[in-house]
Amino acid sequence: MRTIQSVNEMQSHAIGLRSGGQLIGLVPTMGSLHAGHLALIDIAKEEADKVIVSIFVNPAQFGPSEDYEQYPRVLEEDLEKCRERGVDIVFNPSVVEMYPQGYSTFVKEEHLSAGLCGVSRPHHFRGVTTVCLKLFNITRPDIAVFGQKDAQQCAVIKKMVTDLNLPTSVLVGPTLRDADGLATSSRNAYMSDVQRQEALSIPKALQIAQDMVQQGTRSVDRIVAEITHHLSLHRRVRVIYAQVVDKETMEPAREIEPGRHIACVAAWVDQTRLIDNVEL
Ligand code: PAF
Repeated sequence: MRTIQSVNEMQSHAIGLRSGGQLIGLVPTMGSLHAGHLALIDIAKEEADKVIVSIFVNPAQFGPSEDYEQYPRVLEEDLEKCRERGVDIVFNPSVVEMYPQGYSTFVKEEHLSAGLCGVSRPHHFRGVTTVCLKLFNITRPDIAVFGQKDAQQCAVIKKMVTDLNLPTSVLVGPTLRDADGLATSSRNAYMSDVQRQEALSIPKALQIAQDMVQQGTRSVDRIVAEITHHLSLHRRVRVIYAQVVDKETMEPAREIEPGRHIACVAAWVDQTRLIDNVEL
C-alpha cells in the first residue's frame, strides 16, 4: 500500500493509472476508520481496479464552535486497517496542501443542502462539496463510495456530480450498525457507556417509525410525533430535527410513499451530535 501526502503526486499518479486503463475507486473519509468505512472500501474494491482512501479532517466543513480540534486522529491505526483491507493508496494530505495560503474558491449546492443538517450547520455542505470536488480532481475516480448514514451528504454530492457533469459515479453503501443497533460513526467514540445507552433511543425511534409504516401508517405527522416522543423520554437526548424526506431530493414529505421516503434524525446526546436515518 502506498501513502501519498502531496496533491501533485496523487494527481499525476491517478492520471497515470487512468491512462493505463485502470478503474479508480475513491472512498473519501476523515479517518478514524470503523466497520462502516471498511464496508465502503469493500464496495470500492468490487467495483474498481485500484482503491484510494482519502484521510483528511476537512476544516472547511466544521463550524467555529464544532469539534474540528477534538475530531479523532489515529493515522497509524487507520493505515493498518487500510493495509489489511487491501487498499492500494491512502491519500492523506495536510491542511496547507489542500488549502494553501490565500485559498478562496468554494463549491455550494444551494437546494438539497438547505434543510436538515444545513439549518444548524449552515456552512457544512459547502465544505463537503468543496473538499469532495477537490478530492475528485486530485484522485480522478471512476466511482466514489459514500455511506447512507450521511443521507443528505450523499444526495448533495450526487447533485453536484450531476450539475457539474463530473465523470464520477457515486455509489452509496448501506448504514452499518453495531450489535446494539447504533449506526457506526467516528463520533460514537466521544460517548461514555451511559451516553451510548441513551443514544440507542435514536435507532429505536427510527425502528418505531419503520414499524408504523409497515403496519399501514402513512401520515408523516404521526410518525414524526412518535419519533420525537420516544426521544423525549431520554434525558440526555436533545432533538435537533426529526423529519421525513424524499431520499433523492431531500424535500419534506406529507404522506409516506414506501420506498421513496426516509426518516432522518439529528440529536445531541450530551455533547455528541449524532445523525441517523432509515428507509420507510
Ligand atoms: O463523510 C465524511 O467523512 C466527510 O464528510 C467527507 C465525505 C470525507 C468529506 O470530508
